[in-house]
Amino acid sequence: MKVVDIHSHFFPKSWPSLQEKFGGDDWPWLRHQSSDGSDTEKAMLMKGNKEFRPIYSACWDAQVRLEEMDKHGVDSQIISATPILFAYEKPIEQALYCAQLFNDAALTICQENNQRLFAMAQVPLQNPDAACIEATRAMQSGHVGVQIGNHVGLKNMDDEGVLTFLHHCASESIPVFVHPWDMMAAERTKDYMMGWTVGMPAETQLSIVSMILGGGFDRVSKNLKICFAHGGGAFTFLLGRLENAWLHRDIARGKSEHPPSYYLDRFYLDTAVFDHDALQLLVNKMGTDRLMFGTDYPFPLGEQQMGQLIKSAPNMSEINKQKLLASNAEQFFTLNT
Ligand code: CO
Repeated sequence: MKVVDIHSHFFPKSWPSLQEKFGGDDWPWLRHQSSDGSDTEKAMLMKGNKEFRPIYSACWDAQVRLEEMDKHGVDSQIISATPILFAYEKPIEQALYCAQLFNDAALTICQENNQRLFAMAQVPLQNPDAACIEATRAMQSGHVGVQIGNHVGLKNMDDEGVLTFLHHCASESIPVFVHPWDMMAAERTKDYMMGWTVGMPAETQLSIVSMILGGGFDRVSKNLKICFAHGGGAFTFLLGRLENAWLHRDIARGKSEHPPSYYLDRFYLDTAVFDHDALQLLVNKMGTDRLMFGTDYPFPLGEQQMGQLIKSAPNMSEINKQKLLASNAEQFFTLNT
């Protein structure tokens, strides 16, 4: 069975010091660790002088990645930046520099691994015009889509600038993957990785809800191909609550022309939910044409046995498993795998 993972991340092995170039003390960089005798090189992802996350060479070394993909039966992966590289809060020229730097680095990792590794680009979303230009440039240089963070500061997905960018992507058939980041309630979720386990699913739910109720799906072309990460976060589980509010409270309708459930055929979700009941709920709500296999590889919060959730899903036909594992993604990203 063919397997295409649409949600995986990379870091270049190194990049020019952004702190030296732009000043400021919160830029990401990698502090490589001396070998501990194991096969994989390790590094600490730093944000300024703070340790952010330990990572290993699968992030930057295509051979390490391909060996692990082989071990797990993954044919192709789409790699994308992690949101710490987005620089949405920086001046536009700095964010554009980062986008071009990391977009070109992603293609370098994919080079010579045709049909196995593909890349999604990042864009400086705080400036919609620059984001559109970089998205077009990236697609021309070989990217298969763009990944955006699910908000820009206080601006949600129904923001005019974000919608301008999505309109551009629809008009140029650029697939968009929305990844949660910069999680809400940071002060109250700083322990136990609750920013990732609680904040991220809430962020993604907020994105889809704001896109629906802000009238985003009414205004952006149906040609827009957009996918939200982590199974849409809390969205499908709480859709009944949202629908009930929409039906019974005028102020809960926002600008949407239809009830929330009307828009389920306007977007895709990945399957990074790590639980069969959750996957079944996604199938029940979204159908089998709008779900795409995603792992969040190579991070500890990703699917450790890549592909097993879908392959071992009870009550799912082989045809549907193949749709989720590869066919939907091949269509969405127009992949020639
Ligand atoms: Co991710």
